[in-house]
Amino acid sequence: MIKLAIDFGSSVTKIYKIGSGIVLAEATCVAVASGSGAVKALGDEAKLLIGKTAEFTTIVFPVFEADIVDEEAAAVLLGYFLKKIGVSKAQAKRAQVLFSVPCGAEDALLEKYARLAEACGIRSFRFVEVPFLAALGQDVPLNETDPVFVIDIGGGCTNIAAFSLDGIIAGIGLGIGGSNIDSQIIDRIADSFHLKIGLQTSEKLKRTVGSLYANDNESMVVNGRDISTGRPRAVAVSSADIYDCVKLFADRIVKYALMIVAKLPAEVSASVYRNGICLSGGCARLIGLDDYIAREMQMDVNLSGEPQMAVILGGGRTIGNEEVLETVCLRTEE
Ligand SMILES: Nc1ncnc2c1ncn2[C@@H]1O[C@H](COP(=O)(O)OP(=O)(O)OP(=O)(O)O)[C@@H](O)[C@H]1O
Ligand SMILES: [Mg+2]
Repeated sequence: MIKLAIDFGSSVTKIYKIGSGIVLAEATCVAVASGSGAVKALGDEAKLLIGKTAEFTTIVFPVFEADIVDEEAAAVLLGYFLKKIGVSKAQAKRAQVLFSVPCGAEDALLEKYARLAEACGIRSFRFVEVPFLAALGQDVPLNETDPVFVIDIGGGCTNIAAFSLDGIIAGIGLGIGGSNIDSQIIDRIADSFHLKIGLQTSEKLKRTVGSLYANDNESMVVNGRDISTGRPRAVAVSSADIYDCVKLFADRIVKYALMIVAKLPAEVSASVYRNGICLSGGCARLIGLDDYIAREMQMDVNLSGEPQMAVILGGGRTIGNEEVLETVCLRTEE
């Protein structure tokens, strides 16, 4: 039987197939013709078109802040991804699928996932909240008595939770993520350099020179359009130029994480302080974020080698182990 874990992320969709490992990691992105709505490109190919299309092509992000906001585009995209990994609609009917969902996912979102599954032919599916998968994917031992603390920062959603195998003790799925930094950077470059840059460029700036070390001074040359003349122009942007954007974001995360810690019963917070924070998600790769959170929260921060893949690796481990799956999956009817 085909067993799949699917992480339909706001930025990147990841799929794990038992027997093969991670078989897909592609942009959750669709390019459609503005008038007819016809699909022009999907996944990474669609992402390449951001900022480069004429006005008659629209780029759609079917998952926004971890919510499925365009069910039609979501179904086309997931159907395409399944086909790409060699799972036909007929095979999908017999597959067992795990979907990762944000912490505290509401019924309305689970119903959207159920409709998505149906549209792709998937009949058997379970849901697991991100924090469990992020921990399992990073080999954090889970039991019922020693709670752990996870912060997963993705493109559109940040999951913060203290939990044990018994369940989530305190947690939240926040609609903020790396994309917020990208748009902050666009505004900052407009203010500081009078230059309009695109989303791809701002994301690259974040990944390359974005840093939580105040003294870092890497720089990168970016191309944009002068806001007054409209002419192309290039400027060198340094870590210091965008420091405020990343710091502001990190401060928001820390504020919510401290809020969750403050809600914990004394014994739980003792255990959480002892075990430290397990940090994951693509945004965890932001330079210095681990040290920044450790300093601000006065806790150890553990970062795995591939934080962006933690959730999907945890998904793979969970779908491959019926006992773990039974323990961590959300209770819903199939
Ligand atoms: N090296 C890096 N430095 C900083 N940010 C990075 C780096 N690599 C990836 N990112 C950011 O990580 C985010 C994507 O992470 P991830 O794949 O965990 O999100 P997602 O699972 O698609 O979204 P979500 O979980 O929020 O629904 C993007 O904002 C991307 O720009
Ligand atoms: Mg994610």
